[in-house]
Amino acid sequence: FLLYLRAFGRFCGSKPLLDSTLRSIIAQYDRRLHAQPNHPLSITRKLIESCFPGFQNHNELPGVVTVNQNFDSLGFAPDHPGRNRSDTYYINKDTLLRTHTSAHEVDVFRANTSDGYTIAADVYRRDAVDRTHYPIFHQMEGALTWDKSKFNSQDDFLHQLQTDLNNFNPPNVEVEDPNPPFQSSNPLQEKYHSAIEAELIGAHLKRNLEKMAVTIFTEADKALKASGQEAAPEDKDPLKLRWVEAFFPHTSPSWELEVWWRGDWLEVLGSGVIDQPLLIRAGVPTRVGWAFGLGLERLAMLLFGIPDIRLFWSKDSRFLNQFDEKKPIQRFQPFSKYPAAPRDVAFWLPKSGPVVAETPAASSSTPSPAGGKETEPTLSESPAFHENDLMEVVRGTAGDSVEDVTCIDNFTHPKTGRQSLCYRVTYRSLEKTLTNEEANALHEEIRKELVSRFGVELR
Ligand code: PHE
Repeated sequence: FLLYLRAFGRFCGSKPLLDSTLRSIIAQYDRRLHAQPNHPLSITRKLIESCFPGFQNHNELPGVVTVNQNFDSLGFAPDHPGRNRSDTYYINKDTLLRTHTSAHEVDVFRANTSDGYTIAADVYRRDAVDRTHYPIFHQMEGALTWDKSKFNSQDDFLHQLQTDLNNFNPPNVEVEDPNPPFQSSNPLQEKYHSAIEAELIGAHLKRNLEKMAVTIFTEADKALKASGQEAAPEDKDPLKLRWVEAFFPHTSPSWELEVWWRGDWLEVLGSGVIDQPLLIRAGVPTRVGWAFGLGLERLAMLLFGIPDIRLFWSKDSRFLNQFDEKKPIQRFQPFSKYPAAPRDVAFWLPKSGPVVAETPAASSSTPSPAGGKETEPTLSESPAFHENDLMEVVRGTAGDSVEDVTCIDNFTHPKTGRQSLCYRVTYRSLEKTLTNEEANALHEEIRKELVSRFGVELR
């Protein structure tokens, strides 16, 4: 299988994977951190599973999927930016490393073995290099559907939903939800749902996910207090939640849930009323329901206070021994911080094509449950050089010895029209102090690789 992956990675697609990147991904491919006992990602997964008793939990689904599973089956448009080779690891034209756990939605609905389910899995995306992004991360999603054919009438079904909602024991939290139930940008699926039906499904979704968010953030709060870390005044605000309009090809209407945490609104999850044609394609046309998806690293980082996403991959016992799934959550105690070695690389782009440099804002957040993609500006179609290409060169060359890559200068020469970019690469290993020579050698390799792969002119 690995040989297959490697051969196709090398020869197929317009942008073959770098051999070295592929090698590091293959090395991590079967680690399944979300299922390792006492691993912080596994503890976070279990905490979320505990919010949905009775749901079937899928944690073993393999990461190589078809383009159809990852995109087409969910109704992604043929030109959806998520499909770009600059964002997605293709193995060949029909096969890729899943970019989200939703790749399994249709299959799980088709199996039709439970009303509620969760899926946790490793997912793969080409992305920035910084403390919150890693080419492999973990997502979790969940869905609840009702089989309407099991009710005597539509009224019975609505009555059941309403009763569930009435019996719901809401957590003590302030929730902002300024959205009308439907918007033209995010419409009722009127061909399939009555307005009241979709509103009740949406309310059911919101109450359940609010409760989950309160569970998670109450744990985070407890862990912080137990650690004796003094909260800053703005952090003493009580927990607040807000619903924000969002867009996903596989739900409508769709919302993101944000949490007011330590002085900032933090996006926690994407969700919505499941696209009915998707359920029809899955062979369960009489089911209706809701779904959500979230990134596990982001939540684990704030639950445990883990400062760098690379730490999740650590095999260092000083990291692993700090987590115990039988104990209340405890804040991570950093055991060392080795010095940083920043190095800049500046270059002229070849004349040929436009460059796509992502804005700092777009690359500064934790892996979003990807809905984010749809609201970000669309990246140009097939640029000669995409910022993620540079990120791949850095990952493929210096791997986990790099903490951050940031564009610090981007200018176009007024006369020649040529574009120049300067990136700061911050080298810092989690395992040892990098000597000047080591940092220089890694940097030199990156410079050479940029010239040979993209024909840039170093400055
Ligand atoms: N698949 C979406 C993502 O990766 C998250 C999501 C899952 C949204 C399920 C809605 C329903 O961003």
